[in-house]
Amino acid sequence: MYELIKRDGLAKRGRLHTVHGVVETPVFMNVGTAAAIKGAVSTVDLKEIKTQVELSNTYHLHVRPGDETVKKLGGIHKFMVWDRPVLTDSGGFQVFSLAGLRKIKEEGVYFNSHIDGRKIFMGPEESMRIQSNLASTIAMAFDECPSSVATREYMERSVQRTTRWLARCKAEMARLNSLEDTINPHQLLFGINQGGIYEDIRKEHAQQIVEMDLDGYAVGGLAVGESHEEMYRILEETVPYLPVDKPTYLMGVGTPANILEAVDRGVDFFDCVYPSRNGRHGHVYTNHGKLNLFNAKYELDSRPIEEGCQCPACRTYSRAYIRHLLKAKEMLGMRLCVLHNLYYYNTLMEEIRAAIEAGDYKEFKRQKLSDLANPLD
Ligand code: GUN
Ligand code: ZN
Repeated sequence: MYELIKRDGLAKRGRLHTVHGVVETPVFMNVGTAAAIKGAVSTVDLKEIKTQVELSNTYHLHVRPGDETVKKLGGIHKFMVWDRPVLTDSGGFQVFSLAGLRKIKEEGVYFNSHIDGRKIFMGPEESMRIQSNLASTIAMAFDECPSSVATREYMERSVQRTTRWLARCKAEMARLNSLEDTINPHQLLFGINQGGIYEDIRKEHAQQIVEMDLDGYAVGGLAVGESHEEMYRILEETVPYLPVDKPTYLMGVGTPANILEAVDRGVDFFDCVYPSRNGRHGHVYTNHGKLNLFNAKYELDSRPIEEGCQCPACRTYSRAYIRHLLKAKEMLGMRLCVLHNLYYYNTLMEEIRAAIEAGDYKEFKRQKLSDLANPLD
């Protein structure tokens, strides 16, 4: 059940009640594709860095270790020892970005595993069964995320198929949730809006999926090559057709600035690989922009990554030491950067929630964007 607590302009401050606890929104979901946050981050660490929702992928866990295996082990929460909410992406997007040789048919997608090349078929029913076996808190609908350069004609046909797939997802999810041996019979289903850069297709699709009365709605097919301004325009043309009293999720986005702008346009769920991927490369976030800790200027810098940051890295270690670890290819270097970055994102979301509650979001956003654009050193 989603509770809309407060609005400030279009910004939403909400609360999603789930069988795995409450999610305070706006929220940033921490990406752990294969039931692991890359960079040697454990689920014990996740609690320390204020993670509310962990995100995993249907496709990756189906290929390895197999969703049947995860089910035998009691579902993803028991498997990875994480008692808070988990959202699983449906596999659609990963099939399009990772798998080799695919064929898209009405029934689903035929493709080759990126691990061993074996042939796999995944359609709406398969995706729902896998996500039900994983027993995540929130399952995502199986969608096609068309290329950003798809023609209008292709986009129209693809979106119509995604709508038919969504109806099949909803029916299959209802069936699975009613089975006796289902681990999480309260699994939620979010629909995904597509339509690329075509505002009329986005709008019509949004209206169609809202009629299906789902637990939440995502905007997909963004951050796939269009400019930031174009992404903001599409949000302005799409989010108003999604219900304010349900979660609004912008998939795969983004930078701190992207999140600040999207919240201002009514989005309250996010996920992105940036903080973990950048951390693994020694790029760390601060309120005054990103630092590259490989830079020679940090060789003798005894300050923490960010003054005042309460993360496990900043509470203890200096920029100089973390730089040394990174250069020596010590795993701890990566790990500390990833912990800091996820803590930074989770803290940013906390500040966003407080600003909305205070009715001060516009001014908060203006100040934050101005700071981010002004490096300190
Ligand atoms: N992750 C980022 N974009 C998308 C999308 O369009 N669809 C799905 N399923 N996942 C995504
Ligand atoms: Zn820190």
